[in-house]
Amino acid sequence: MADARPFHWEFHPEPIAREIFRIEGGKPLSGTVRVSGSKNAALKLLAAATLTGERCRFSNVPEIEDVRVMAETLRDIGVVVDHPSENNYEVASGDVEWLFVPLEAAAKMRASFMLLGPLLARFGRVIISNPGGDRIGRRPVNLHVDAMRSLGAEIEYRNGYYFARAPGRLRGAEVRFPIVSVMGTENAMLAATLADGHTVIRPAAREPEVDDLIAFLQNMGAGVERTYPDTIEVEGRKRLRGADHRVVSDRIEAGTFMVAGAVTGGRVTLTDAPCDYLSAFVDVLGGAGVDVSCGQTTIEVDGRAGLEGGFMARNIETAPYPGLATDLQPPACVLLSQAAGTSRVHEAVFEDRLEWLTELARMGAEARLLDEHHAEITGPRPLHGAEVEIGDLRAGASLILAALAARGTSTILGAHHVHRGYENIDGKFLELGARIERVAEGTVTTKS
Ligand code: UD1
Repeated sequence: MADARPFHWEFHPEPIAREIFRIEGGKPLSGTVRVSGSKNAALKLLAAATLTGERCRFSNVPEIEDVRVMAETLRDIGVVVDHPSENNYEVASGDVEWLFVPLEAAAKMRASFMLLGPLLARFGRVIISNPGGDRIGRRPVNLHVDAMRSLGAEIEYRNGYYFARAPGRLRGAEVRFPIVSVMGTENAMLAATLADGHTVIRPAAREPEVDDLIAFLQNMGAGVERTYPDTIEVEGRKRLRGADHRVVSDRIEAGTFMVAGAVTGGRVTLTDAPCDYLSAFVDVLGGAGVDVSCGQTTIEVDGRAGLEGGFMARNIETAPYPGLATDLQPPACVLLSQAAGTSRVHEAVFEDRLEWLTELARMGAEARLLDEHHAEITGPRPLHGAEVEIGDLRAGASLILAALAARGTSTILGAHHVHRGYENIDGKFLELGARIERVAEGTVTTKS
């Protein structure tokens, strides 16, 4: 039986405990939305602020759950974290009372492990929990630990905790990674800024958020530089100073809204949009028949071709930057579900990051998992409303995209995963004309 209650498309500024998204889809989105600051940059910048006792000020920080968790984690160890106004944070790490990052912080967010490098380098010791984070793949931290050992740290693992010490000071060294790791690179780089001597990190991740971190460290007085595309060199300093920094725009949020415009057959303009950092993704969209035009700081997406079945299948493969971001694989899959023909998807960075496709299939998509790294999507298949459950951040945002494109009403459980990384996602979609609301779990009758 149909739910007789009328919809009220209300915007709730704060997350509701155990909430769901309720979305009535099938409406082309149109309008302008501003891209927020990058989650993956902001978290590392906050961690890097512990390299100095002086005050650091950050603007354009996204108001998201992961930033709140990082701020709380820092406060718990005695760091002063002020939040003077929306999107502004200040960090003063003069007194760090506890060189201990507990399981509570680590279980909520893998990026808490970013405190290993800076605390170890500045204070010579830290005890830090093995992190949890998204349920995507095994995601070990061996590369971080090996990098610290290369810099002279002694690290033991006992009962879920890493006990790390740097007798004397960390020492500059060659840090060789067997594969490219974003946070591994960043942790090594932060540690090396206060090490004794010269460090070469190779292969270093090339993600724009790593370069945002480099720019901040340079303002702190660190001797750090990307000397080749895949090489970062660091000349260690005895101390660093406080600095101010504006967080770079979030290219993953931008990509999510680009797909929203495309799959709803709408027209969306993004401002503060980092088009230069989205080349591989723009190629995928363009090749699939989405009209994308990039300005200096704006991106316009016109998805109206899709309304006449004009999108075409594309094979995609994720890779470290400048390749197609694994965080944009789920949004890209939603688009491919509306494209004519069969697309092959190769998720090369993480195992298990394709499992969410079974939820997408519940909304009518034809998606087949071939193995943990490969899938096939055949389209176009009309999407319909359903009850689905979010398993991780990026898959969650993509189920919202699918629901916006679908006919009928969808109920999406596990909204908290999305608030980890998207600022005001429902408010932004409402501004584009979407019918989306957040409601406490258990307050709606769902139908699939
Ligand atoms: C970061 C991003 C995440 C993004 C990912 C890849 C943040 C907070 N998160 O995660 O959004 O999806 O980059 O672009 O910035 N690996 C190991 N051992 C390690 C570390 C990683 O085997 O110690 C493996 C991973 O399982 C994965 C690969 O290396 O298969 C790359 O992961 P990595 O680049 O390290 O991802 P994160 O930095 O954790």
